[in-house]
Amino acid sequence: MTIIIDTDPGIDDAIALLYALRSGQDIVAITTVAGNLGLSVTTGNAARVLAVAGRDLPIHAGADAPLHGDAKPEIGIHGDDGLGGVAFPEPATPSSTIGAVDAMIDLVNTHEPGAITLFCLGPLTNLAQLIDMAPDCAKRLGRVIAMGGALDEPGNAGARAEFNLAHDAHAADIVLSAGLDLTLIPLDATRQIRADADYVAALRVADRPAAAATAALIEAYFDASTSQKSRPLHDPCVPLYYSRPELFEVETRLLSVDRLTGALEAGPNEIKVAMKLDASSLRDELRRGLSL
Ligand code: BDR
Ligand code: CA
Repeated sequence: MTIIIDTDPGIDDAIALLYALRSGQDIVAITTVAGNLGLSVTTGNAARVLAVAGRDLPIHAGADAPLHGDAKPEIGIHGDDGLGGVAFPEPATPSSTIGAVDAMIDLVNTHEPGAITLFCLGPLTNLAQLIDMAPDCAKRLGRVIAMGGALDEPGNAGARAEFNLAHDAHAADIVLSAGLDLTLIPLDATRQIRADADYVAALRVADRPAAAATAALIEAYFDASTSQKSRPLHDPCVPLYYSRPELFEVETRLLSVDRLTGALEAGPNEIKVAMKLDASSLRDELRRGLSL
């Protein structure tokens, strides 16, 4: 399967990208979106992560704001550079002049139906635009695996809302209503897999660029919340689910999105939702991939 990663790096996005890039997943392009930080920052960060991973792939910049309303960056968590102040090499490759949605449409239409898997690590603005602009192309998409939502857990962007869905609730509603083969990985699952100081030390032992960069990113993530001794690895759950689905428990739920808050609620759309995971095995798998 061929993968496009849509992302807003972001500390945990960067870790997810490093794992996907180093562990041999067949990624053809990275598309960026405004979310954790503004679009120019998230796009530059995608290029910095590629440089650390020693990979050269096209990066296509996408939406610089939600479909409605303004972007709401999360500087408090990710730092004003989106990477917690961790020094990454300056990228040599500028982003493509082809925009994210055009690139996605072209890739999906030039592959067999179902052949492209899309990872969504940020707000769903780019995918919603694709669905609106090219509904026949959306039907050719294979699996969509998205970090987003909160079901039984409290939200992190409102009482019941999770950041990626809340940042562009309108887009989230379009995506959940589109009849895609969509698997959501909500906070209920992502809060179960956490990185702590021991995990950082184990990454350092590996002495490999992606593992060392991840150790520094996790330490920066601690600095943003000095009261916590471990932090959740939200976005890495997406490529981890792709590699090791047997380590997740997935249920089918009937859901929709509240267009005001982005909270998930009962609705007509059949969505696969990963509610539990084997954190210990997945932490090992993440470290293995980052150490290659
Ligand atoms: C999501 O929001 C962002 O802070 C993270 O990158 C992740 O995609 C978690 O709610
Ligand atoms: Ca993200």
